[in-house]
Amino acid sequence: MKVLLCASEGTPFIKTGGLADVVGALPKALKKNGVDVRVMLPYYKKIKEQNNAEYCGYAYVRIADRNEYVGVFHKEYEGIDYYFIDSDRYFNRDGLYGYGDDGERFAFYCFAVLEAMKVVNFFPDIIHCNDWQTGLIPYILKNNYNYYMEFRRIKTIFSIHNIQYQGIFPRDIMNIMFMPYSSSLEYDNCINFMKCAIMESNLVTTVSNSYKYEVLTPEYSYKLNNILELRRDDFYGIVNGIDVNKYNPETDKYIFANYNIKTVKEGKLKNKKALLKEFNLPFKDVPVFGLVSRLVEQKGIDILMPIIDDMIEHTDAIFILMGSGEKVYEDFFRYMEFKHPKRFKSYIGYSDSMAQKIYAGADIFLMPSKFEPCGLGQLIAMRYGTLPLVRETGGLKDTVKPYNKYNQTGWGFSFGGYNVEALKEVMYLATETFKDKSAWNLLVQHAMELDYSWDNSAKDYISLYEKTINSGRKKWTH
Ligand code: GLC
Repeated sequence: MKVLLCASEGTPFIKTGGLADVVGALPKALKKNGVDVRVMLPYYKKIKEQNNAEYCGYAYVRIADRNEYVGVFHKEYEGIDYYFIDSDRYFNRDGLYGYGDDGERFAFYCFAVLEAMKVVNFFPDIIHCNDWQTGLIPYILKNNYNYYMEFRRIKTIFSIHNIQYQGIFPRDIMNIMFMPYSSSLEYDNCINFMKCAIMESNLVTTVSNSYKYEVLTPEYSYKLNNILELRRDDFYGIVNGIDVNKYNPETDKYIFANYNIKTVKEGKLKNKKALLKEFNLPFKDVPVFGLVSRLVEQKGIDILMPIIDDMIEHTDAIFILMGSGEKVYEDFFRYMEFKHPKRFKSYIGYSDSMAQKIYAGADIFLMPSKFEPCGLGQLIAMRYGTLPLVRETGGLKDTVKPYNKYNQTGWGFSFGGYNVEALKEVMYLATETFKDKSAWNLLVQHAMELDYSWDNSAKDYISLYEKTINSGRKKWTH
């Protein structure tokens, strides 16, 4: 079985969020299970500077009134073939997204992927597209490539990692793209890449079962629930795993001391002491709350902000929070650190090494997300024996079983309603439970026993690939 995975970011080459982790780890698990999987990414400036990829050839894509050059580069990494789409005009920039011509850039990318397949002579059974940046591929494949035998048999799968970002552009973007107009492309009088992908791919997936049901409701769907409803029978939720080799407390080079499930008590204590020292805090046997996150509305910082002062006054908890993003949250971090220098520390920005130190050194990992398609932070935290405190939404709900003190089950803490009181109550519960060492140690054991690898989910993807390959061909014209 041959699969081409397309996305706008992927580790170890380029990362802004969890999508990159999935694109970095899933292919390895697929390959282990016998799939010939290759990955195609834009050749951003940063990738170009840091990698010596080999030039494979070029093609042209028609955009507006130009034939736009598409360079194709290749690099093998950990047994996987990566192809990079080179374009000086569109990708040789410092950032990934947020430019005025993003619509044009990723429309170009979608056309370029199909041309690059010819350059490298790889015609997969499935093109697995991820998020809006790849959203036009299924449509272009059907409409512009249906006269090539090699392309006609290709099926498409589209995975939604976050429905909030849909790729919505003014209708006049149609003027630069050489493809027929269809109602699939349009939504609310705009061109919507994600909507188009939902309509036109053979199957649609998202990254947890709960998020699948959430996005079928108006509350979570950012207006796409009616569109998803049309594809309900072809819509699946498959939970993400993590790269268990990269995130392994036994071998992790970034953390202060390595440990495993048997040595977790001493191991975590060493990490906690060193983490506090790193932030110039003396060690105390008090609960340390950690957070590592993009600082955007989705992540629930709004309901956390009004609680910190109260927690600092009434409990002995310490906060170590890392992230970057919207200014209001960064400013809040700075202000809290100024106000409570002995109890609140922040790291504004992102560093892999510091993130791992927080995962290993904190006691409780905060993820009060408003919505969370899957979430990777809670999985990493649990693998390091740090108990997650999450809102019951999306993948958080599917992966964190809350502590039940009557029968001593669970491996984390959770709350339902998205409000300050609900979060506060469970933060108090966590700080109280922390004092009960035998209960706490049991929860840590439970968290560390779980399997976070990609093995099961990779098998689920493979069955979907098989199902799609074997399904009758969808109609080709509209
Ligand atoms: C997005 C989602 C996150 C998910 C990740 C990978 O970043 O917000 O919940 O884990 O994609 O699928």
